[in-house]
Amino acid sequence: MGTSTAEGLPKTLRGNYAAARPDYTLPQEMADYTEADHATWRTLFARQSALLPRHGARAFRKGLARLDCGGGVPDFERASRRLREATGWSLVAVPGLIPDGVFFEHLAARRFPVTNWIRTPEELDYIVEPDVFHDFFGHVPALMHPDFARFMEAYGRMGERALAIGALRPLARLYWFMVEFGLVREGRSTAATEIRAYGAGIMSSHAELLHATTSDKPRRIRFDLWRVLRSEYFIDDLQPTYFVLDDYAALFAAAERVPALLDAARDAEPILPSGAGAGDVEVPLHEH
Ligand SMILES: [Fe+2]
Repeated sequence: MGTSTAEGLPKTLRGNYAAARPDYTLPQEMADYTEADHATWRTLFARQSALLPRHGARAFRKGLARLDCGGGVPDFERASRRLREATGWSLVAVPGLIPDGVFFEHLAARRFPVTNWIRTPEELDYIVEPDVFHDFFGHVPALMHPDFARFMEAYGRMGERALAIGALRPLARLYWFMVEFGLVREGRSTAATEIRAYGAGIMSSHAELLHATTSDKPRRIRFDLWRVLRSEYFIDDLQPTYFVLDDYAALFAAAERVPALLDAARDAEPILPSGAGAGDVEVPLHEH
């Protein structure tokens, strides 16, 4: 997921933090992955990829195809070469969650931290800490899109400011809803529009991808920056509320308005995960 919600890091993280440099990066040792690790990657990759033609956002599918990473745990160097060509981003290996300030610094420099280890076969459906499947499969394809990539860099810079004024909560909500659980409305130039997913928490979860794009249980609300900055979320259950973008350029445009809203968002009454905000506009799954 990238950021931790607490001040420091949880005490029980499983990555090898002792091997990390001061910026929490470490070398990705391809030789350390076992055949079982690669098999876990292929299982997860095949299962999620099968859902993409019907439920995945176009930009995500295009980015994933260009990364060409279905064969096993991907080599970050090789992926970084493709990312650099596309959007100027690169990947760095980290042992897992890293402190917020370090995370923001990496993003502001167009470096995306990716956890170097993969979950066990018992954790195919759910894992508490983000692993390489979540971080790479979930996050990296969208970084191949220029507008989304610009937003992520801007987010890193905003993070440094939010830390300074104690307004991390509203900024973390923006990350949660638009980077981890974002939806986008596609096909607006045609007769039928439909909702597709791009957020990493959705794309790396079989259950959440179906829930977010097919279930009639969750609310899907048109993206509104001020609403998102005040919206609380559940970290350990399927989301009851998602926000829907018209395009990634709108997300980058919203980023420019964030600094002016952070103080007020920090002090505002939060909206509960299933709660309604004044002015919520529901987006239907399909429109004809
Ligand atoms: Fe994530």
